[in-house]
Formats: sequence, structure tokens, C-alpha cells
Amino acid sequence: MRFDTRAVHVGNEADELTGAVTPPIYTSSTFAQAKIGETKGYEYSRSGNPTRQRLERAVADLEGGKLGLAFASGLAAETAVAGLLRSGDHVIICNDVYGGTFRLFNQVFRNFGVSFDRVDARSPENLERAIKPNTKMVWMESPTNPLMLVLDIKEIAKVSKAHGLTLTVDNTFASPCLQNPLKLGATVVVHSTTKYIGGHSDLVGGAVVTSSQALYEKVKFLQNATGSVPGPFDCYLALRGLRTIHLRMERHSKNAAAVADALSNDTARVDEVYYPFLRRSPSYKLARRQMSAGGGMMAFRIKGGYKAASKFLETLKVFTLGESLGGVESLAEHPARMTHASLPPEERKRLGITDDLIRLSVGVEDTTDIVDDVKGALKAALPRHS
Ligand SMILES: Cc1ncc(COP(=O)(O)O)c(C=O)c1O
Repeated sequence: MRFDTRAVHVGNEADELTGAVTPPIYTSSTFAQAKIGETKGYEYSRSGNPTRQRLERAVADLEGGKLGLAFASGLAAETAVAGLLRSGDHVIICNDVYGGTFRLFNQVFRNFGVSFDRVDARSPENLERAIKPNTKMVWMESPTNPLMLVLDIKEIAKVSKAHGLTLTVDNTFASPCLQNPLKLGATVVVHSTTKYIGGHSDLVGGAVVTSSQALYEKVKFLQNATGSVPGPFDCYLALRGLRTIHLRMERHSKNAAAVADALSNDTARVDEVYYPFLRRSPSYKLARRQMSAGGGMMAFRIKGGYKAASKFLETLKVFTLGESLGGVESLAEHPARMTHASLPPEERKRLGITDDLIRLSVGVEDTTDIVDDVKGALKAALPRHS
């Protein structure tokens, strides 16, 4: 079956007991045993829950992986994967990963003796050079946040494999609909299901997918041992979100491409636009090869710095000023003062997260309404620039 059919059906099979076509939400924390140790496959919902298992099966299938695990948040999923490392191990973190990922390694796992280096992985030579005898894992995102840099997963996987390293790809921004890193050679995929998988800004969750049985067993052990499981209601919501992910991603991508065009055409007010499928983008060719569409995320630099950026953000009507991304509603934010405010100022500067930068999570509303909203806010922010 093709992706769209699997998105609708996998994990959503009719309930065997009642025939219900919508998956039941099993809220039970514990399960009756006929005799001591004789179960129907479930004992206690931290170690296994039927609603969660449906979600785990669905995410794994859509990522083209064999095995999936669901978590209480994207960061809980990341923590379980990082928990594969031991004191003395070294990790290579590629380019601009999510700030919370950096914080996890810098302020949590570093305390447990796991070291890391950050590398510009646009060149495989940089990656090769950063590998140490104790390197165990490479961690990457593509496209990156907030500057939408596209990294070559296949190339990075090749180098990782040659050195026996686990390659973890955070596929949150692209979603399983637009890009499947396991098919490009990654070992593990992580998701914040809070974003495009859930798709409606009404849950916080995470997922891990792999085709390695051994790795799955280790992460499953950590899921149970650390107790970082999602509740059954959130699993149900994520599963429901997945059923329309193909429709949503198509519209997100169409709308975002239209906004990227409108922004690029307003050279009097806009300095730079970052969107993977923008023809002028340096990673356009790679993005076309690696992703089936451009997705809903983009960023741009407005002329006039913070003053113009804040006026733009406060004038928008269809877009809501807010953090997070991947929901059906359009969101806009100021990375330097919002999502990336926790990064040290010199780090923000190094990454290009300056006061003129605005990030958009383009939703699935009417294309013309969205484009008009952006154009109107640009004019209000910079009335004399035309
Ligand atoms: C790319 C990426 N990965 C991971 C996370 C963390 O996910 P969560 O907020 O669900 O813990 C986020 C959150 O914004 C993200 O953008």
C-alpha cells in the first residue's frame, strides 16, 4: 500500500472485540491476569498499552521502519535515544539542532560523562574530521530550525556507517510524509509528535523509530525503566492526526511555497527567505532529491530589525504569534526572543538568529488569505519601503 492509504489505516484497524472503526482508548493502568503471569499481552500501561501500541505501529510503518516507540514528548524520545550512550562516549551534533536537543546534551548528558562536538555537516569531510575513537553517535536534523538548512542524510549516513556510528535523525520538521531518513541510511528517527504528526496543537508527544531489533529493545527498556510514556488519550490524538497527515502536508507545502514566493518578491522589505523548495535556495537541489515537498516551515529576514519584526508579528491576523509549529493553524514567532531565547547570545549570533529573523509555521488555511496576511503585515511594518 502507498503512504496515503497506510496513513489512514495502519494502527486504525477495526477493534477486534466490538468492530469499532475508531480505535478504543484504553485508559486502564493495569490488566487482569487469568493466572499468575498469564496475560493477554498487557500487564501494566507503563510497559505496554494497546492504544499506544497502535500509534507505535503506525509511526513505524509511515517512517518505513520496523519498530516504533511512543513517548511523553519529543524530548522524552530524545532522552531515551541519548540514554543508549555511556559515560566516556562522544556524540557529533550537526549544525543547528533544536535548542532543547543542545540543552539536553549540554546540561544533562554532559553531567553523565557524555561529551559532544558540533559540526557543520554540509561537508562530509568536516564530519569525518570530527570523529574521535570514542564517538558513538551522530545527531542531525533536516531541515534545520530556524534557518531551514537541508543536510544530505544519505551522505551523513554513509560516513556514519563507515565508522560504525549510530545516526539519529530528528525528522520533526519534514514529518514522515515528506522524508524517511531510515530509507536514506539513518539508524534511528526521532519525532516530536507534538508537531506535524499530531497536527492540531493539542498534544505533547514523541516517537522513536528504527529497524534494528537490538536498538529497539534497548530503547524500549529505557522507555519502561525511565517511565517516559505518553497517556492513552494523547496516543489516540496522535494516531488520529496521522490519518490526515498526507492531506495536511500537501496544503502546508502549497501555502508555504506561496508565502515564500510573496516574501522573495518583496525585496524592498525582505532581505532573505529560507525555504527548502525555494529555487534560489542553496539547498534547493538536495531538498528536491531528499524531500517530496517543501513542508510548512520557513524563516525570513525583515529589513528594519526588531522594530519592523515586532510590528510585522503584531499586525498578522491569520497567523497567531506563538511558539511551536506543525498545527493546522498558522503560527509566527521571533526566534531570537522566543524559541531560541535560551541559547547564549553569542551562540545565537553565530547561528544567524538575529533580531530581524522571523519564523513561520504556515498552516492549512486558504492560500490567498495567508499570503494577503503576510503582505499586509509587511506593509504595516515598513510603510515607506516600496
Ligand atoms: C525539531 C524538534 N525536535 C524536538 C522537539 C522537542 O519536542 P517536544 O516539545 O515535544 O518535547 C522540538 C520542539 O519544538 C522540535 O522542534
